[in-house]
Amino acid sequence: MEKIVSLCKRRGFIFQASEIYGGLNGVWDYGPLGTELKNNLKQYWWKVIVHDRDDVVGLDGSILTHPAALKASGHVDTFTDPMVDCRTCKARLRADQLAEKHGTKQCPNCGGKDLTEARPFNLMFQTQMGASVDPASIAYLRPETAQSIFVQFKNVLDVSRKKLPFGIAQIGKAFRNEINPRNFTFRSREFEQMELEYFCRPEQGMDLLAYWLKERIRFYEEIGINRKRLHILDVPDKDRAFYSKGTFDIEYEFPFGRQELEGVAYRTDYDLQQHIKSSGKTLDYFDEETKERFVPHVVEPSAGVDRTVLALICDAYDEDSAPDEKGKMETRIVMRFHPRMAPIKCAVFPLLKNKEALVAKARKVQALLRSHMNVFYDEGGAIGRRYRRQDEIGTPFGVTIDFETVGEKGEELRDTVTLRDRDSMKQERVAIKDLVETISSKIR
Ligand code: GAP
Repeated sequence: MEKIVSLCKRRGFIFQASEIYGGLNGVWDYGPLGTELKNNLKQYWWKVIVHDRDDVVGLDGSILTHPAALKASGHVDTFTDPMVDCRTCKARLRADQLAEKHGTKQCPNCGGKDLTEARPFNLMFQTQMGASVDPASIAYLRPETAQSIFVQFKNVLDVSRKKLPFGIAQIGKAFRNEINPRNFTFRSREFEQMELEYFCRPEQGMDLLAYWLKERIRFYEEIGINRKRLHILDVPDKDRAFYSKGTFDIEYEFPFGRQELEGVAYRTDYDLQQHIKSSGKTLDYFDEETKERFVPHVVEPSAGVDRTVLALICDAYDEDSAPDEKGKMETRIVMRFHPRMAPIKCAVFPLLKNKEALVAKARKVQALLRSHMNVFYDEGGAIGRRYRRQDEIGTPFGVTIDFETVGEKGEELRDTVTLRDRDSMKQERVAIKDLVETISSKIR
């Protein structure tokens, strides 16, 4: 994991937030490449879940949330983790994550055994709305994106005129005051979720749970996650929320252990019923054909953006060997991102930076590709080094403009370039006019 964390910082995927002030625990900033990777993930999720389907529409709800909504959802009263204090070093610890030595719980920081009784700690961040400081001005930063979907169910239904089953999807920030943020970005205090609430008739719930589990596994395969490192946990009755009739966790084998990426849960009609009770408003559905009025049930695939980005990075990291400038084999770090997810799709290199014809042609090729994909132009250093730099950030294709391209080695090779594949390191000669289609077909 250290190698991955170090690469993330060195190459600009992920930085600790407020680093120059000593860092903010459990909060992260995404650098230039991390931002591209994260955007590619979110855009692909949105395409598959919303744009490619007729039965899902989107929502972008607010982060600041009415306390009544989170009281109704149960978050105000029960969204807690058990917390203990270490009386020796004053650390605050999650009671269910304490190490045990000879049957006694210990503080992981100082080894102290003088711990307080466990007590519930609410994970929500509370804030104040407006100038007056009184209980009526309390608002919360949302702990999940899901609740705004339930609260806006009726408005979205009215404007979209969808028939059951149909879904409302959302990507956005969520906040949890985790007692022990850890494992790099895995458990953060500020993170993003990609959630779908798929509403249905009660009798469709269990079948749709199985359907969405399959769809979601397919998604992870499509973004290049190795299927062998994905696992499905059928969450047993005792560990499921009391209102859920079935929950599957999709887990990934991170270097620090097998951990949850996404939960796919059949939540019955619990959330809508809670909001009906608390708000006094009707949040039901009228079936034109059967003339029935009822509260829909819901199946929820809920994925973490940051956890999936971390899984993409861990899954892509590889080391192999490649010849250096003198032909001596050296270790090559290569991020084997699926081209669909790679932050930069293609790098463009003039073979030599002091040959004007090569540089001018390379700039033209960059301009040609730019309107179709994220490209990077690099003329600095030996070509082998430039390839290595791109391998390390997972750029799947490299285009080199050489003397053949500008017609110095015969007319038949004019306007052709070498196209290098990151994984095989093989190069093929491709006509510039075919470049866009050749690369685009692999990154879509
Ligand atoms: N609406 C259901 C819900 O929020 P959850 O299992 O609490 O369910 C869903 O969260 C997903 O959100 C998790 O599978 C995980 O990917 C992500 N997530 C939850 N807490 C997180 C945290 N502290 N840091 C990063 N991601 C988190």
